[in-house]
Amino acid sequence: MEWRVPLADVKLGIEEENAVLEVLRSGWLTMGSVTQAFEREIATFVGAKHAFAVNNATAALHLACMAVGVGEGDEVIAPSLTFVATANAVRYTGAKVVFVDIESEDWLCISPQAIEEKINERTKAIVVMHYAGFACDMPAIMRIAEKYNLAIIEDAAHAIGASLDGKALGTWGDVGCYSFFGNKNMTTAEGGVLVTDDDSLAEKVRILRSHGMTTLTWDRHQGHASTYDVVALGYNYRIDEIRSAIGREQLKKLPAGNARREVLVGRYRQAFKEQAPSLGLPFSEKRGLSSQHIFAVLLPEGVDREAFREAMKKDGIQTSFHYPPVHQFAIYRNEGEELWMTENVARRQVTLPLFPGMTDEQQDLVIKSVIKYATSALI
Ligand SMILES: Cc1ncc(COP(=O)(O)O)c(C=O)c1O
Repeated sequence: MEWRVPLADVKLGIEEENAVLEVLRSGWLTMGSVTQAFEREIATFVGAKHAFAVNNATAALHLACMAVGVGEGDEVIAPSLTFVATANAVRYTGAKVVFVDIESEDWLCISPQAIEEKINERTKAIVVMHYAGFACDMPAIMRIAEKYNLAIIEDAAHAIGASLDGKALGTWGDVGCYSFFGNKNMTTAEGGVLVTDDDSLAEKVRILRSHGMTTLTWDRHQGHASTYDVVALGYNYRIDEIRSAIGREQLKKLPAGNARREVLVGRYRQAFKEQAPSLGLPFSEKRGLSSQHIFAVLLPEGVDREAFREAMKKDGIQTSFHYPPVHQFAIYRNEGEELWMTENVARRQVTLPLFPGMTDEQQDLVIKSVIKYATSALI
């Protein structure tokens, strides 16, 4: 369908085209020097000691769980208001996911208090997710981790370029995972990066990313190694040079893209505060620098979300919602109790279009339609 305003839009330019062509002409397509450069650049950008590019963030999250030692018999605390991959990555290891609620209707990230209530002798780790690129309460979560000796994995899929107290989201915990899926703030088509400051976790990730092998094809091509051992049951979670080349160019464009997102979010908030005061606008508190990955609103109680979205669609505006709560999916149902705040927010939440290439005129169309339809009286 041809949208007047799509939910998200990715723009790749001549820089990405040239970078890809250079790789194609180089004759080396699988993980090599371009990926190494991409990893160094991401590590520098977020201020992490180690970065590992992988084929997607789900793989990064799985590697993170494996590296911190999550496995059969363990429990891992996670939010339910997230993309299902956050939980699936834990389940791949055989561990149980214990879902907990968000902080409030205003701050849609995992609640430190709810985390602490669920800790028991089986708890091994906590996975947090920085919703829309807004920071979870990392100082409180790190205090809990220290008190109970738990590993912290940050699902920073939304959060590249975001920070709290000047420290990049994704670098607060033991391991951070970024997604470069096609609708993210920067993309490699499919792809992700895992970061850590911990040398021993880094070594485990390095081995597990590529079949548990001690050396890579690239190392052997370079003459740095002639054979290998297999020391763990690893995976093939490697990225390739084509995608790393796209990622390097996208990283250069990320700060400008995130800055434009910030401006657009400011315009949305201003317009809705004045002209649709019954619309809920989460993340009103000032806490760190967001990457503004998505723009989430909460419809007033009683407004039919599907009717609202249908009316927006008729105006050519694409919307979405983030997310159906994971604890209500068939494969996770019955694993926990009700999460009152998560369920309430998930019923009313709508995601409006947001992307750096969005024009003021396109945004004005969205604003006008939202104001027209966001009261139950009109639809
Ligand atoms: C919060 C969250 N976690 C994990 C993922 C998984 O990322 P990927 O698609 O790169 O595997 C996504 C991607 O959509 C996400 O939004």
